[in-house]
Amino acid sequence: MIRINENYLKLQTSYLFSNIAKKVSTYQSAHPEREIIRLGIGDVTRALPGACIEAFQHAIAEMARDQTFRGYGPEQGYDFLRQKIARHDFQEHGAQVTAEEIFVSDGAKCDTGNIQEIFATDVRVAIPDPVYPVYLDTNVMAGRTGAYENGRYQGVTYLACTEKNNYIPRLPTAPVDLIYLCFPNNPTGATITKPQLKNWVDYARANKALILFDAAYEAFIRDAELPRSIYEIEGAREVAIEFRSFSKTAGFTGTRCAYTVVPKACLAYTASGDPIEVHQLWNRRHTTKFNSVSYPVQRAAEAVYSPEGRAQVKALTEYYMLNADYIRKAVQKLGFDCVGGENSPYIWIKSERDSWEFFDLLLNKAAVVCTPGAGFGRCGQGYLRISAFNSFDNVEKAMDRIQDALA
Ligand code: MLT
Repeated sequence: MIRINENYLKLQTSYLFSNIAKKVSTYQSAHPEREIIRLGIGDVTRALPGACIEAFQHAIAEMARDQTFRGYGPEQGYDFLRQKIARHDFQEHGAQVTAEEIFVSDGAKCDTGNIQEIFATDVRVAIPDPVYPVYLDTNVMAGRTGAYENGRYQGVTYLACTEKNNYIPRLPTAPVDLIYLCFPNNPTGATITKPQLKNWVDYARANKALILFDAAYEAFIRDAELPRSIYEIEGAREVAIEFRSFSKTAGFTGTRCAYTVVPKACLAYTASGDPIEVHQLWNRRHTTKFNSVSYPVQRAAEAVYSPEGRAQVKALTEYYMLNADYIRKAVQKLGFDCVGGENSPYIWIKSERDSWEFFDLLLNKAAVVCTPGAGFGRCGQGYLRISAFNSFDNVEKAMDRIQDALA
């Protein structure tokens, strides 16, 4: 008899964004004439930067000739891309990361979801609440949690991120081994300072724990004092893995390219306490289960680091940040408290009512899609996330419609 992994039965019936997509599609079928504005899932709407397109096309032309054609590439990614990442994203900012420590992949979603499988199934996991659902769901699938009760999985240490702590989680009181952090945060848009991040790095070093640091939204940081990488913090190389993505930065949500940094100094332990290089484990996993990203996509990603590419990417993120600024001011004018939108493309609004009820109201009365905070965890109840990824015209229109819907 073929049996299932029963941990899957503990999961909520569907993934948050699939659930929302279903609701939106039901609404659209009932109102085919209505133009829906999507500020829900953080999906970019602007074209790829010209430098990326040019590199993409050039690489496709290379694939069209036997002499320049490429088959399988290195599983960890081509050296031309890994070198540029190490230099421009880290070394230039004073973070010591080498090309060998970069693993190119097709998305931070996959990497943040897959990484947990190299750790023991009984490690104690600390996960923020609210949180990007992938961290939690993949640990449920792996059997690291008990049943779901009152909006929470048994066995998980939830790190509440609320108004009371300015959406920055406090250090856990009971010991934990694997810690998920995401800054600028999805979904709250909150940012962490260097001293605050240092507290976490110190905690991990003192407790032989490991931090999984999701920095997918780093390019939206405007405040020069904020850390862009956890490796700007002393000692982080021993205790942290960092995830980055070209998705939101350079418009690659449909093109797919991201990377994970696993420093050689980063250690995890056997049951008997022997230290093992995490790099070696992830390399083993990556080479076994992944064949990297296509050659043209890696060339397109490399172009992000050319002088033109850098200027174009900056313009792209600035465009979305103008939207974020507009949204933040508009919701404040409507009388809502909010956080985010200053160094992040997400605005986290205190909706003062049930998240899903507010989501339904905005969908039905304004034809605007946002993301209900409750979908990110119990602490998200009463909140709504608005994404700045859309055209400025649509953002303006959406905020007008929300104002009318609430009048
Ligand atoms: C989000 O809206 O939270 C993200 O776009 C989802 C993702 O990156 O997978």
